[in-house]
Amino acid sequence: MTEILFTGISQLVTSASGPQRGAAMRELMVIENAALLVRDGRIAWVGPAGEAPAATEKHDLGGVAVVPGLIDPHTHAVWAGNRLWDFEARVAGVPYETILAGGGGIRSSIAATAAATVEQLVALARPRLVALRQSGATTAEVKSGYGMDFEAEVRMLRAIQELGREFNLLSTLLIHVPPTENREDYVRGVCETLIPDVAAESPATAVDVFCEVEAFSVEETRRIFVAAQAHGLKVKLHADQFCAIGGTELACHMGALSVDHLEASGPAQIAALAASGTVATILPGVTLHLGLPAAPGRVLIDAGAVVAVGTDLNPGSSPLFSVQMALALAVRLNGLTPAEALTAATVNAAAALGLSDRGSLSAGMRADFLALHGPDWRELPYTLGANPVRDVFVGGVKI
Ligand code: NIG
Ligand code: FE
Repeated sequence: MTEILFTGISQLVTSASGPQRGAAMRELMVIENAALLVRDGRIAWVGPAGEAPAATEKHDLGGVAVVPGLIDPHTHAVWAGNRLWDFEARVAGVPYETILAGGGGIRSSIAATAAATVEQLVALARPRLVALRQSGATTAEVKSGYGMDFEAEVRMLRAIQELGREFNLLSTLLIHVPPTENREDYVRGVCETLIPDVAAESPATAVDVFCEVEAFSVEETRRIFVAAQAHGLKVKLHADQFCAIGGTELACHMGALSVDHLEASGPAQIAALAASGTVATILPGVTLHLGLPAAPGRVLIDAGAVVAVGTDLNPGSSPLFSVQMALALAVRLNGLTPAEALTAATVNAAAALGLSDRGSLSAGMRADFLALHGPDWRELPYTLGANPVRDVFVGGVKI
């Protein structure tokens, strides 16, 4: 048994465990002058330092704030090539959907990724995941979706699996953009071949679809979800990024883990999310990078939805390599309070991945936590462009 008592904690700040909605998202537990006992990688006790139990080993953090490790519930961290050309085109006024419809955008990342080996994909993604972890992400989700064909899709999943030896990752099969020809054959193949194969070999735990005018329809999404669920895979969705075409309502109805983006969501989509257990994941990096409207984070919380925040790290719509910055942007762009943003980036992000063993500093949870540089946790939602995270602990071990 290994046992470490962490002391020198000016403030220990956490949400309660489990998904939080409405006003509960703002209710943090704050313990001043705290201690944290870790036993075999799990939290055994938290409380005031004066009441701490004895432990075989001690670690003095030197008087700084401690928060749960952040969870990034939405990334596309594996890709090859770059999107510097379409970045320049977009800032000169060409819309993202126009670039995509013309064969650029996501389609250019697909071409570059198809040409890369698993080893090359791993080498390209590793520094991105290191940056995310240094920014506070102790768990991250990574999607496929830049595969030209099923083989390339599976190569991406293999790369994510390989990276999972170094990082805590969840892997999602993303059905991203339809081929320009034989679309019906493609969707049938996804349902009848790709999903059964992936479910049998288990390189992914969930299936995601990009449901949008320029990507998959609501009916195609429904068929893919039915196939995924029939094979025991969870489902999640990219929806309402540009147009609200009904994907959010479908996903809530089918018990999806999360619906992500939501920049174009209106009252019907907000009501569907609020009435469901499906997590509403907002991605403020996209708002910043594409100059899109912000997802209605404030309205979603006030309506009673479970709101999470992620980076959406990807080359085209959100080259955001910091989960702390995503949390900080959710306060500026989506109207979350600092406390709500912490909940969105911890327990609610865990729920968006179907995880209940992390995100909160309470007994029994994984000992994934962050020691900040300073004594006040609010540096985390406040800081822009510098890293307020000093140390990252995963399972009680400093990385
Ligand atoms: O979440 N919108 C669709 N998919 C990604 C973008 C991927 C890309 O542009 O390469 C997203 O924003
Ligand atoms: Fe995405």
